[in-house]
Amino acid sequence: MCGIVAYIGDKPALPLLLEGLRRLEYRGYDSAGVALVDRDALWMRKQVGRVADLDREVGGAPEATVGIAHTRWATHGGITQPNAHPHLDAQGRVAVIHNGIIENFSQLRLALEADGVVFRSETDTEVLPHLIAKHLRGDPLAAVTEALKSVRGTYGIAVLFADFPDEIVVARNGSPLVIGLGDGETLVASDPQAIVAHTRQVLYVQDREIARITRGRADIRTLGGVGVQRQSTRIDDVYGVADLDGFPHFMLKEIHEQPAAITRCLAGRVQVEEGNAKLGGLNLAPRDLVGIERVVLLGCGTSHHAGLVGAMAIEAMARIPAQAEIASEFRYRHPIVARDALYLAVSQSGETSDTLGAVEEVMLKGGEVCGLVNVVGSTIARTCGKGVYIHSGPEIAVASTKAFNSQVSALLVFTLMLARARNLSLGQGREMARQLQEIPSLVARFLDAPGPIDQAVERLIHAPYVLYLGRGFSFPVALEGALKLKEIAYVPCEAYPGGEMKHGPIAMLSKGSPVVFVIPDDAHRDKAMSNLKEVEARGADVIAIHTEGDDEIAALSGVSIPIPRTANWASPLVSVVPLQLMAYRAALALGRDIDKPRNLAKSVTVE
Ligand code: AGP
Repeated sequence: MCGIVAYIGDKPALPLLLEGLRRLEYRGYDSAGVALVDRDALWMRKQVGRVADLDREVGGAPEATVGIAHTRWATHGGITQPNAHPHLDAQGRVAVIHNGIIENFSQLRLALEADGVVFRSETDTEVLPHLIAKHLRGDPLAAVTEALKSVRGTYGIAVLFADFPDEIVVARNGSPLVIGLGDGETLVASDPQAIVAHTRQVLYVQDREIARITRGRADIRTLGGVGVQRQSTRIDDVYGVADLDGFPHFMLKEIHEQPAAITRCLAGRVQVEEGNAKLGGLNLAPRDLVGIERVVLLGCGTSHHAGLVGAMAIEAMARIPAQAEIASEFRYRHPIVARDALYLAVSQSGETSDTLGAVEEVMLKGGEVCGLVNVVGSTIARTCGKGVYIHSGPEIAVASTKAFNSQVSALLVFTLMLARARNLSLGQGREMARQLQEIPSLVARFLDAPGPIDQAVERLIHAPYVLYLGRGFSFPVALEGALKLKEIAYVPCEAYPGGEMKHGPIAMLSKGSPVVFVIPDDAHRDKAMSNLKEVEARGADVIAIHTEGDDEIAALSGVSIPIPRTANWASPLVSVVPLQLMAYRAALALGRDIDKPRNLAKSVTVE
């Protein structure tokens, strides 16, 4: 989603800002812009499209050492050059870049228009430079503070002033901002990865804080005017420049990285001899584990699907009520937060606004919440203060693949730990640990010979509607498979539990309708088999993901994709892989922009 980079130092700012934007590209955006301050004047360029398009427009830029740059993911107003950031005040003396949403922008805009201000864009952001200019009387920090008093909503902003060329003002409420301190230079970004090439020493700006940024310094205070003393922290988890390693797309590379990612997630945590698992970051002793009466998993999209698998595993193995909640719904429904419940916030990026909102709601109501996050030092990880890193490594493709499997793996490790403290015997614990350890090699074996994926793809790519079905642990897998096909191939599809299908979606089926059925040999197999026969009787063309050797299912399917046998709770880790490959190859056949699908962002930092 939107990205912010700002620089003040002694080096030419423009190349540094553009490089920062390039490092944020994977997050998804539709336009980009940059502003520099040079000899008391602002110079600005913005462009619809990629950072490379902006790069072509910056010829003749001044050798300025101060500037701000932005990638925009449209929320208010179309994808146009005037709507791209930065936005200027009427005199062109104040430039603002903004992540987040100004909720009361229409009232603010009407009031400013009544004062004679003429707007040049349709964005919510443009109210900010006009408001700041209105309050500017010699002190940039005071002007921004004053302007923000009338603003309701979320923001991470960086403000550049033509008349104050030796400072940048930044502020945050709900949209991440990090300040990097270098030798005689300071950088600001919405994601530390944009600036780590220049400095590892960072200060995280917190909500309702504002900072005056000068060369090598950052003076932070609250919006109420109280000075903040904050120790800088060092970032060690640095992603190199993303490399395709010979793969045509990051998504395919990340699908193939899954055996290694799962191995990393399990390493040092699963204890086969003890039949147990250890997740030190949760800081939960066996006595605490025994006291947990409910587990609630909060997440969005793919992370929610991983949460659904986790909840089922916890109920099945640890015999504790567990539920997965869509974070965007949970946060606003005035949830009952139980004191004896453990809440787990599941997020790849650690920046998803809705998941963060749910975390804050749980905390506000006195609940205990831990993070289950990939990106080290991300907002959700820091807000929770304790939790589990899934160690997936950087995930660049917008469509999440390896993070799903690492999240499920971490949740299964947690399940083992919880179940062992409660009702699993040593022998049962050892068996579960052994089965977990086996997963990476099973995923690798499937990836080596994935079966007739292309036959499935032929049936999917021109279908007006595809139905994904699964029961038990396979229902979240069906949801995840359908999400992947929608996200990157734009093929209309939906996922249902096999037993629910005849309560409605079966009406969509006619002769030749593709139905993707995830039907491993588990406790639900025979019931699922009846559903398979029901769709087959309506002429559906079944693509079955089934356990190797299940000839009965193979015989009933138009396309049969066998997967290695696993324990039922571990089957999602393997059965999701053919669905990821099917979506990938469908998108490839349809000529889609696989790693940067339309309208989507990697990090959804607005509600
Ligand atoms: C997955 O393919 C999606 N791009 C999306 O659903 C994603 O999982 C969701 O936005 C949550 O993101 P997070 O894991 O970073 O919180």
